[in-house]
Amino acid sequence: MATLRRAETSPPAFRSALFRVALLLAAEATRHLPTRTASVTTPLETASVPVLAAKPPCLVPVLRAGLALVEGFATLLPESPVAHFGAWRDHDTLKPVEYYFKAPADLGERGAIVLDPMLATGGTAVAAVTRLKAAGARDVTVCAVIAAPEGVPALAAAHPEARLIIAALDRCLDPRGYILPGLGDAGDRAFGTG
Ligand code: URA
Repeated sequence: MATLRRAETSPPAFRSALFRVALLLAAEATRHLPTRTASVTTPLETASVPVLAAKPPCLVPVLRAGLALVEGFATLLPESPVAHFGAWRDHDTLKPVEYYFKAPADLGERGAIVLDPMLATGGTAVAAVTRLKAAGARDVTVCAVIAAPEGVPALAAAHPEARLIIAALDRCLDPRGYILPGLGDAGDRAFGTG
């Protein structure tokens, strides 16, 4: 987290730190998944081991910054499909307007994990969960690296059943909607466009 927050961190170092945080978030985001016992033949004998009871959850990065979390989550969940959700912010209403959504047809048979490094006002996360639920998702988890205190209740109010997993809860939002102290623009820092 210190590497992510430090202004001098280069984009490759930023992506690498994001990968490691994503792995930890993925462990937390999968902790609740039901398992069943499977029988596995080891080189020595038969072992009873827990495996996921249902299809692995769908990963849903929010374009663009969420893409930087996919590698870490896909390392833990290599069989998970990856849906995409894109929204831009309307300058007048300040509300997110969806411009892209593509998800697997079997969304209703698996959970969904929304990936967005920064939960600021919560508007985009709320829109992503609304869209996923409309597409049939029943068990939705939102994962963010840093959340603002404004965004957490906004998500809980709109989607009380959605799970929220974050690595840090920061102080507040600034007038432009940046999280303080935060880490700046996560997409720009991950992709070198700042
Ligand atoms: N999105 C970002 O990338 N950073 C913030 O601080 C808030 C939203």
